[in-house]
Amino acid sequence: MACDADVFNHGVAVITGAASGIGAGLARRAGALGMNVIATDINADGAAATAAAIVAVGGKAEAEQVDVAIPDELDRLAERVFDRHGAVRLLINNAGIETVGNTWEVPAARWEATLNINLHGVIHGVRAFVPHMIGSGKEAWIGNLSSVGAFGQMPGQTAYTVTKHAVQAFSECLYLEMELKALPIHVSAIVPGMVRTAIFDAEAGFGEPESATGHRRAMFDMMRAHGMDIDQASAMFLEQMAQNRFWVHSDPAMAAQIIGARVKFLQDQLPPIMPDLALAIAVD
Ligand SMILES: NC(=O)c1ccc[n+]([C@@H]2O[C@H](COP(=O)([O-])OP(=O)(O)OC[C@H]3O[C@@H](n4cnc5c(N)ncnc54)[C@H](O)[C@@H]3O)[C@@H](O)[C@H]2O)c1
Repeated sequence: MACDADVFNHGVAVITGAASGIGAGLARRAGALGMNVIATDINADGAAATAAAIVAVGGKAEAEQVDVAIPDELDRLAERVFDRHGAVRLLINNAGIETVGNTWEVPAARWEATLNINLHGVIHGVRAFVPHMIGSGKEAWIGNLSSVGAFGQMPGQTAYTVTKHAVQAFSECLYLEMELKALPIHVSAIVPGMVRTAIFDAEAGFGEPESATGHRRAMFDMMRAHGMDIDQASAMFLEQMAQNRFWVHSDPAMAAQIIGARVKFLQDQLPPIMPDLALAIAVD
């Protein structure tokens, strides 16, 4: 069976949201395996720090400031990367934000940001890069960041949940389009469980309603206590992508439990079922 050291030991890797968390972890792992990493993020200093860390241990990397919420920026990135470095072997559409707060209280700007970054960022990453990938005629891998949240319901995280259900559906259709056209582009839905990143940090919640504070803090504490190490999760993701798996997990047991509950919910056409997590972190 193929392993990441065989598949991802050369070629160009483009990763969005690579200043922090899973994106930074995937960038470090791809760099350590021997790929030329283009670490992109809206946070230019953070992306530069990720690239510098890869170079410091003998790898190849550079940083680009890219806001995935702006489709043109992804088009320009794809053109620059293919012009300067040739074919992209690995594209990870990773950039994402959590949004907490009752559905009706989340301000319009935060709704827009969540949809633009988490969903449109993935859509336009694919739209911008795939034509170049097809043009190169080379084998390529695309990983889109879904979530265990793509299969359930989570009150207080509606905006985030909506985007992850959509990214999952988008990735499933994209996979089938590649198959239908017999294109050598492998598509994976990366479904992290809980990985210890900055996604629930207080400052990441700008623009959320005041009522989100307790929920965000409880999720932050839970992630610190139970989240998986970023580098461990990132290594698992690239290993499974190298095996051309559509489903890519850090916590397959957690995903199976949530997906199983979803199957029952759909088969029996039950009303939405309150997740234990929602009760555990209910603060007001
Ligand atoms: N951490 C988890 O447990 C978990 C679970 C399921 C899914 N995910 C998904 O993993 C992905 C990465 O999240 P993370 O947990 O590493 O979070 P994180 O907050 O540590 O990292 C997210 C990165 O995205 C960047 N970003 C935000 N807006 C951007 C924009 N407009 N353009 C470009 N970059 C932008 C941030 O600057 C940051 O570097 C997200 O899509 C998230 O939904 C994470």
